[in-house]
Amino acid sequence: MPLVTTNEMLKKAQDGHYAVGAFNVENMEMVMAVIKAAEEMKAPVIMQTTPSTIRYAGLDYYLAMVRTAAERADVPVAMHLDHGNSFELAMQALRKGYTSIMIDGSHESFEENIALTRRVVDACAPSAISVEAELGKVGGKEDDLEAADDSPFTDPKQAQEFAERTQVNSLAVAIGTAHGFYKGVPKLDFDRLSAIRELVSIPLILHGASGVPDDAVRESITRGICKVNFATELRAAFSDGVKAYLAENPDAYDPKKYNAVGMEHVTALVKQKIDVCGSEGKA
Ligand code: 13P
Repeated sequence: MPLVTTNEMLKKAQDGHYAVGAFNVENMEMVMAVIKAAEEMKAPVIMQTTPSTIRYAGLDYYLAMVRTAAERADVPVAMHLDHGNSFELAMQALRKGYTSIMIDGSHESFEENIALTRRVVDACAPSAISVEAELGKVGGKEDDLEAADDSPFTDPKQAQEFAERTQVNSLAVAIGTAHGFYKGVPKLDFDRLSAIRELVSIPLILHGASGVPDDAVRESITRGICKVNFATELRAAFSDGVKAYLAENPDAYDPKKYNAVGMEHVTALVKQKIDVCGSEGKA
């Protein structure tokens, strides 16, 4: 089926008390692996690319791969710009045909974040493309953006004001997760999440889910998260599969052979994450 926006997908998830998995893809094999998992689990799925991934091959390359995957599949697929870092990149993604756009103004002041987000929301509204914003700072390093050590968590009252003034479709919240692998076990501020949910009615997004214990992801979904982002674990799974094959077959030279093992690892991981999100059978 054609690519869909995340609007309806996330509203259904919110009403049904589950989350849609959003998976960062870096190459054709990861796209194929994610769609295979989604089809086997009959789950809606979001594929997303960050600015550095886009710099690697271009928006049009990734969009063409994900669009092809969606058209061949019978589950809903959205193509999302993850951590869009400028109005210009957001507009390029919109014009090319991405069906969902994140504008990440979390590194700006509250007022500047509102102004930037509102500009993107206004530009996307005529084509009904959904917009995600971030308030507060998710820790760690995602792409070129590194959060400060004192990563401030999302303030519920500010989140309410932000949602009202920007009219954004969904909001990424900072409640203790970080991008990349964790050194210890992350401790999420669930009470803060519940307080945000009380005041903000739009779908809430959890970033930095690689390495977050399954129980904690489930608890965050119970408390209102409707989209969960996974990137680092997918990159590691693909690389581990390729490395394992090459360790056993050091003379291998056909990329189809070792990439197939990378794909198997990613499909297995994505199926497990879809299970944690509770989105199996929701396509
Ligand atoms: P991880 O790399 O920690 O899974 O974070 C993914 C993410 O939030 C992408 O925006």
